[in-house]
Amino acid sequence: MSQLDQKSEAWSALFSEPMSDLVKRYTASVFFDKRLWQADIAGSLAHAAMLARQGVIAQADLAAIQQGMAQVRAEIESGAFEWKLDLEDVHLNIEARLTQLVGDAGKRLHTGRSRNDQVATDVRLWLRGEIDLISELLAGLQKALLALAEQNVDVVLPGFTHLQVAQPVSFGHHMLAYVEMFARDQERMADVRKRVNRLPLGAAALAGTTYPLDREWVARELGMEGVCQNSLDAVSDRDFAIEFTAAASLVMVHVSRMSEELILWMSQNFGFIRIADRFTTGSSIMPQKKNPDVPELARGKTGRVVGHLMALITLMKGQPLAYNKDNQEDKEPLFDTVDTLKDTLRIFAEMAGGITVQREAMEKAALRGYATATDLADYLVKKGLPFRDAHEVVAHAVKDAQAKGVDLSELPLADLQKFNPAIGEDVFGPLSLRGSLNARNTLGGTAPAQVRAQIARHRARLA
Ligand code: ARG
Repeated sequence: MSQLDQKSEAWSALFSEPMSDLVKRYTASVFFDKRLWQADIAGSLAHAAMLARQGVIAQADLAAIQQGMAQVRAEIESGAFEWKLDLEDVHLNIEARLTQLVGDAGKRLHTGRSRNDQVATDVRLWLRGEIDLISELLAGLQKALLALAEQNVDVVLPGFTHLQVAQPVSFGHHMLAYVEMFARDQERMADVRKRVNRLPLGAAALAGTTYPLDREWVARELGMEGVCQNSLDAVSDRDFAIEFTAAASLVMVHVSRMSEELILWMSQNFGFIRIADRFTTGSSIMPQKKNPDVPELARGKTGRVVGHLMALITLMKGQPLAYNKDNQEDKEPLFDTVDTLKDTLRIFAEMAGGITVQREAMEKAALRGYATATDLADYLVKKGLPFRDAHEVVAHAVKDAQAKGVDLSELPLADLQKFNPAIGEDVFGPLSLRGSLNARNTLGGTAPAQVRAQIARHRARLA
């Protein structure tokens, strides 16, 4: 039995009785933190190489550690590795197996290191890789939305404020609003990554260590952008995890807003879109139903991710410096945040390709809602009326059109002229949905020319 195996019975000679099974189970994390194994091995190999460079361990010990770790890696990959609850966490499991394989060299690996700086390093290395995957998935979703936008630049959607029909917008423009959100999310992830990608290793338990470690070398070896500069902060900081989860929550909030719209648009009452059958489910009792389960679940899972943010931020509150075991509770929320986010981004990128737009239903809804009323007011302003007066004139015209059950553009010119004599034949251009769209040709506006320019800009950015 190695010393580590004995430790699980009682940590050291200091302990006079072993842990109960309940306490072992309560304190162990191996069944969830084993997913950090690759980061754990990478961190250990960099640490060992640095110890050998600095003359703290012999080259022969380094060689033994490298060869033993290669075997540990192979065992984990093949599923042959036996994870032991008694060995508490991923770190002790890997170290114990290494020592079983290579003897004393394995026992030297932990020189100048503590699990406190080890776990902080592992989580950061793992999260850095996940952030890179998430960033790619965010780019993929933006590209899918750009394709959907491009197909529908000229489709007119009633734009809403207060969920009341407001002004016509291009469906492509509406999709680009989400592209903007996901672009900011990608920026946020890149920014979080900088603070994730710093090295705690070398802080040891909390105060630094007596061995001549070269932390900068380890940081470079692990591709990290810098070294945590205060040992107490290095082992206890989980801001990076909180920040990441906050950024992830915002991604999910954006997904959730989009979900809400897709769900509304797909209902019979709107009938604006269809979502491909493969993203919907039927009802076990109502044969006519097709339910938008994918966006509904995404909306629901947003609560779950925001909940993880609350868990992490509450976990940190009230912890004195430096490391406390509370921090072991950072993992499950973080892992589930990453899993939920990745699945959601993947499925949304796929689903965007399965959305078909019902352009007639959208245009009808825009007309029914007098979406071009502002355009009539703007028309009158251009004829010399003060805006407030124009606003009032149009209110009367809308009231009249409503009573007749027609759109403003369907009122005969003579009727319109009763509200203001300045109205001429040229009013019908601005009053049409497309006229209204084309008129909003300012930077960031909904005119198809602007939308096409934005699509090109995003494409270049994502190329
Ligand atoms: N499993 C622990 C965690 O996740 C590793 C660090 C344990 N450190 C300690 N001093 N008990 O935080």
